[in-house]
Amino acid sequence: MHRLDEETLKLEKEIVNYALERVALQPPPLDGPRSEAELADLFGKNITEEGVGGHEALRRFIEGYAPATLSSDHPRFLAFVPVAPTKASILFDMVVSASCISGTSWLEAAGAIFCENEAISWLAGLAGMPEGSGGTFVSGGSLANLSGLHAARQRLKERRSFVRPDRFRIIASEEAHSSIASAANLMDLELILVPVSQPGRLDGKALSATWDGLTPEERGSVVAVVATAGTTNLGLIDDLASIAAFTRENDLWLHVDAAYGGAALNSFMRSRFDGIELADSFIVDPHKWLFAPFDAAAIIYRDPQYARRALTQEAGYLDEINRDSAWNPSSYGYHLSRRVRGLPFWFSLATYGTRKYREAVESSLDLARATAREIERRDYLELSLEPELSVVVFTRNGWDAELYQRWSVQALRDEVGFVLPTTLHGSPAARFCFVNPTTTLDDVKAILDTLAWEPRGA
Ligand SMILES: Cc1ncc(COP(=O)(O)O)c(C=O)c1O
Repeated sequence: MHRLDEETLKLEKEIVNYALERVALQPPPLDGPRSEAELADLFGKNITEEGVGGHEALRRFIEGYAPATLSSDHPRFLAFVPVAPTKASILFDMVVSASCISGTSWLEAAGAIFCENEAISWLAGLAGMPEGSGGTFVSGGSLANLSGLHAARQRLKERRSFVRPDRFRIIASEEAHSSIASAANLMDLELILVPVSQPGRLDGKALSATWDGLTPEERGSVVAVVATAGTTNLGLIDDLASIAAFTRENDLWLHVDAAYGGAALNSFMRSRFDGIELADSFIVDPHKWLFAPFDAAAIIYRDPQYARRALTQEAGYLDEINRDSAWNPSSYGYHLSRRVRGLPFWFSLATYGTRKYREAVESSLDLARATAREIERRDYLELSLEPELSVVVFTRNGWDAELYQRWSVQALRDEVGFVLPTTLHGSPAARFCFVNPTTTLDDVKAILDTLAWEPRGA
C-alpha cells in the first residue's frame, strides 16, 4: 500500500487523468442526487476483506457515485452559496494533498504557513485591520465564527472588573447566520436577537434599543456583538459603521461575519463595508466567493493574543510548539491537526493577481443587477428587493410553497439548474446566489423561462 509498484503507477495515471479531465470540463455536469437504496444497488459492497482494487474502485466512483454528486461549480448551481474555484486553486489543492503537510505549527509547516499568512494579510488589509492583526484558515464559516466568539469571551474574562455572570451572552441580529446560534449553543451563551426592520439590516440604533432593555448584569455578560456583512438569505450588509461606533462606545467586542460577503471588500462595493476596520474579529470564506475549493474559511483577529490564550491546547507532547512565540495556527482556531487549506487560495492569488479577483467578484455583482432588471421585465415575476451583493430574491405570481418546491425538483431533474426556494418574511420565494464568474445572463434567462409554466403534473 505504501510502495509505488507497477500497478500503483498505472492507478496513478488513471486517477490523475480523471482529475485533469474533471478540471477541464467546462461546464462540469450538474448531476443530481439518488436515493441510498439506488446507490446501494449499484455495485454492492466496495469495502471488502481483499479490496476491489484501485481500478475498479475508481470505475465505480466515476460511473456510479460521481453522477449522484452535484458539481457546486456548475454555472447554474445557484442555491445556498455556491463555489467556483479557479483552475490554479484546484490544481494546487492536488499538490496540498500530495504534500502531506501538517498545518498545526510553525515548526512543522513554516513555509506553508508563511504563504497562508500572506493571504490572511491581504484579507486583513482589505478590511483595514491594523498591523499585528492575524488569524488562520479553518474548515468553514461555522468554525470561524465559533473561534472568533471564543476569543471574544476570553477578552471579557480578562477584564480587571470582570465578575462571572450567571450566563454569558452575545448580541446578534435576527438575520445572522444559523452558525451564530449554533456557536452560542455550543458555548452555552444566551443569544440576544435584535429585531431589525425590513429588509433586514442591523444598525447602531436597533442595537442601542436592545442594549437599553438589558440590566447592568446582563450588559456585563455580553461577550460580543455579531454583525453580518452579506446575509445569506438576502445578501445584505449590516450598517457596520454605526454598529462599530456603538461597540466602541460601550467597550464591546465586534465580530463581523463576512463569510459570504467579504469577497466584495475587493470591489466597487467597498464603501458599504465601512466600519469593518473597527472589528475585533471577522471571518471570510475563500470557498464561497473567493474562488477557492472546499474547505477554507479565514478567521482574523485584531489582537490575536486573546485567541491564542483561549484556543491553545496544552499537553506535554505539545510543549515544544507552545513554548516559543512562533505563529502556530493551532492557537487561532478550534482545531489542532490541520490541512493547510489556505494554500490553494494563496497559490491562486499569487498566480492571477488581485485585480482579476476584483473583476470576477464584480461580474457577479453586475449579473445580480442585470438579473433584477430581467425579473422586472417578466410580468409573472416580482423582484422582492433590489440586490445589494449577489443574491437575488423574487416571487412567482400565484405560487405557493409546494409549487416552488416542485419547480426546484423539476429544474434539477431536467438539469436546467440547481435552484432552491427560500422563505422571505414568512412567504415562499425564489433565490439565486451568484458567485460563479462563468454564470451568464443567458443561464439566468433559461432558468427564469422555466418559471413561466406550471411545473409538470401541477
Ligand atoms: C454569512 C454566513 N456565515 C456563516 C456561514 C457558514 O459557513 P460554512 O458553511 O462555511 O460553515 C455561511 C454559510 O453560508 C454564511 O453565509
